[in-house]
Amino acid sequence: MTANAANAANTANTVNAANTANTVNAANAANTANAANAANTVNAVLRPHAEEQFGEELVLLAKTDDRPRPPGWRLSPWAVTTYLLGDGDRITPKYIGARRIVEVAVATLATDRALLLLGVPGTAKTWLSEHLAAAISGDSTLLVQGTAGTAEEAIRYGWNYARLLAEGPSRAALTPSPVMRAMEEGRLARVEELTRMPSDIQDALITVLSEKTLPIPELNEEVQATKGFNVIATANDRDRGVNELSSALRRRFNTVVLPVPASPEEEVDIVARRVEQLGRALELPSTVTALDEIRRVVTVFRELRSGVTADGRTKVKSPSGTLSTAEAISVVTSGIALAAHFGDGVLRPGDVAAGILGAVVQDPVSDRVVWQEYLETVVRERGEWRDFYRACRDAL
Ligand SMILES: Nc1ncnc2c1ncn2[C@@H]1O[C@H](COP(=O)(O)OP(=O)(O)OP(=O)(O)O)[C@@H](O)[C@H]1O
Ligand SMILES: [Mg+2]
Repeated sequence: MTANAANAANTANTVNAANTANTVNAANAANTANAANAANTVNAVLRPHAEEQFGEELVLLAKTDDRPRPPGWRLSPWAVTTYLLGDGDRITPKYIGARRIVEVAVATLATDRALLLLGVPGTAKTWLSEHLAAAISGDSTLLVQGTAGTAEEAIRYGWNYARLLAEGPSRAALTPSPVMRAMEEGRLARVEELTRMPSDIQDALITVLSEKTLPIPELNEEVQATKGFNVIATANDRDRGVNELSSALRRRFNTVVLPVPASPEEEVDIVARRVEQLGRALELPSTVTALDEIRRVVTVFRELRSGVTADGRTKVKSPSGTLSTAEAISVVTSGIALAAHFGDGVLRPGDVAAGILGAVVQDPVSDRVVWQEYLETVVRERGEWRDFYRACRDAL
């Protein structure tokens, strides 16, 4: 009896041991799987830089590009323009608009003048600057973001204070700014929202742009820009007057004004293309082409922006928000996410109504009145917009 009991106990132990071992193994396996997933997640960058995302197109262009390249450029100006506008075949269009604008921008960068992209919000200033830097230098990451708090170190250089205290001033203790690195490496530096920076910080760019050198008095040295260096700055029309660009600096820039899309068809084309690209990047489940709904969002935005209906008959009030192409793109993208995850995969008026409301009503009081008035006087009168009218009423 005792022996049996002991045996039984042993067996039980063995079983338990085996179970425990299994559990441990299973747990390990699960951990490994999790770790692998985590590793994958770390690798999957949410938004790759232009030069990575469109790396294949850049390689393809470089291979066939037999036109002269300015010193330090990866591609000829002609090929850069093709990269930006597309070739109708394997090179996808990035910027949709007049060819001349892109040509002037690219040609400017091949001279000793810097490029200032100016325009109202959402006219692809940042987008164009990133793609120009990617195509010309193969690197769009040398970026200074202009804010009211941007310090001079962002344009010139800073110090690694631990090293500075331990070793005194030396090149090793110096932390270069993106502009300084661009000068050394012969690449393009990007300055975003130039006019949001305080004027004295903006002026740090003057020597860089006119002398193409950056003095380092602490080391009794200077950095001289190498061939290929230039600066692309962006500035928002709406910020005009926040910090006026000094005339000394303005003279060192060629200004290219990016217009809002000329026609509704052009704007629909931009929104449709970008929504498609974004949907792919975000891995949204595919939806049926949403062209009808995109057309409607673009029409609403254009009418509210311009203060008159598309047929020119009815005046409408404009809300305080910008309602740019960029906002139309995000309204449609979130609509597609709603349709894909909670609907039947078809973009319907109800999926964009909430997004439009959010974009239009920035000021909860006055914009709401503007939107209601537009709904009642314009949207309600359009027979084929009935579902849309109802969805917008429901969202209010
Ligand atoms: N003409 C255009 N061609 C291609 N894409 C465009 C065009 N206009 C707007 N877009 C799209 O609009 C989005 C917003 O553009 P971007 O952020 O570059 O605007 P911005 O001019 O820098 O605005 P902000 O003044 O607010 O900084 C981008 O996704 C861009 O692709
Ligand atoms: Mg921008």
